[in-house]
Amino acid sequence: MKVLIVGGGGREHAIAWKISTSPKVEKIYCAPGNAGIEEYAECVDIGVMEFDRIAAFAKEKQIDLAVIGMDDPLVGGIVDVLEAEGIRVFGPKKNAAVLEGSKAFSKDLMKKYGIPTAAYENFDDPKKALAYLETAEFPIVLKADGLALGKGVLICNTLEEAREGVRSIMMDKKFGAAGNQMVIEEFMTGREVSVLSFVDGRTIRTMTSAQDHKRALDGDQGLNTGGMGTFSPSPFYTDEVDAFCQQYIYQKTVDAMAAEGRPFKGIIFFGLMLTEKGPRVLEYNARFGDPEAQVVLPRMKNDMVEVLEACIDGTLDQIELEFENNAAVCVVLASKGYPVSYEKGFEIRGLDACRDREGYYVFHAASKRKDGRIVTNGGRVLGVTATGPDLKSARANAYEAASWVDFDNKYMRGDIGKAIDEA
Ligand code: AMP
Ligand code: GLY
Repeated sequence: MKVLIVGGGGREHAIAWKISTSPKVEKIYCAPGNAGIEEYAECVDIGVMEFDRIAAFAKEKQIDLAVIGMDDPLVGGIVDVLEAEGIRVFGPKKNAAVLEGSKAFSKDLMKKYGIPTAAYENFDDPKKALAYLETAEFPIVLKADGLALGKGVLICNTLEEAREGVRSIMMDKKFGAAGNQMVIEEFMTGREVSVLSFVDGRTIRTMTSAQDHKRALDGDQGLNTGGMGTFSPSPFYTDEVDAFCQQYIYQKTVDAMAAEGRPFKGIIFFGLMLTEKGPRVLEYNARFGDPEAQVVLPRMKNDMVEVLEACIDGTLDQIELEFENNAAVCVVLASKGYPVSYEKGFEIRGLDACRDREGYYVFHAASKRKDGRIVTNGGRVLGVTATGPDLKSARANAYEAASWVDFDNKYMRGDIGKAIDEA
């Protein structure tokens, strides 16, 4: 089979590696890819939003399966465009990707179908949002409706902060058109867990759990980022929590989408908060997490291509997912200053140290080739993943491997997986 992956981050590197292990696959292309993905795929210089060029390329190369890694093209309708050209593609159509693309949509869906989530109101008029705040309890959470690179969520401790937040989202349009509507919701406390799943429109199969670290600095301080590191499984995601979510959240979400005439095929990522009152949905995403994929996929035993095809064909009920009985930790190596401002173009050294070591992976998030060397090319540069028999050893291995790789202005959190000690 010939496979085309759309995306160019650490998640797509993990997907490319996993797909490369399938005996069914003879050739992988990636648009646009990066210097790490090159090891498994021929990277082509086509942007993820250039749907017509992607379709033309897929037809020219007679691609058997296209896999969309990123949210923007999914929400923009890439699956509809490729399918219309007769290309077999893994991912939700535009009318289903709205599950991630509009927080107002996803909140209304949860309310309508009784899926547990934070209490909320949607607003498309800033005056009404400001008036609502007058009687609200604090802290309170403001969310821009649309995609905002994970940055469109503001947790406001005071009325004044919240007023400022409404103004910046809806009036100053800090997140662009994503702020045409907004959600104001109840602040919840608890542990966060990410559960990713494969869905074929009717059947859902959940993967092993993971936990992300969204803040830039140790101790969950600093700004929100795309994710500074992950571990899998989450020791807080107990059988009891799983049973609750299987009964009240996962299948109900899939059924709700089908009932709305928006059957979802692809990945649903459930961002969960384990509150005192039980698990609640924080958000849905319509694709693998980044860097959740970097710890979940190395633990997955199945041939992923078989699972992707079953999702497309509607035969996921015939598949059981299997994961290694081990653990994985991913430490993100970022450029100092991320997520605000940072320099790039520095040579990355030591990339070979993990090669051919079983259970060690260096997934590139933002790298490129320059004059025969591999250089940094963004805020999150690499995700160094290591497995181990348990979380503590996986964490020790990941931090050891993170020390083998170096570049100027390298920055990482020192406490990825610290929560493991509290379990
Ligand atoms: P989201 O993009 O909706 O996942 O939000 C980003 C982050 O903001 C989440 O991972 C949480 O840490 C935090 N967050 C979002 N919604 C809430 C909420 N209702 N209560 C507390 N924290 C929240
Ligand atoms: N790691 C969080 C996300 O992919 O949205």
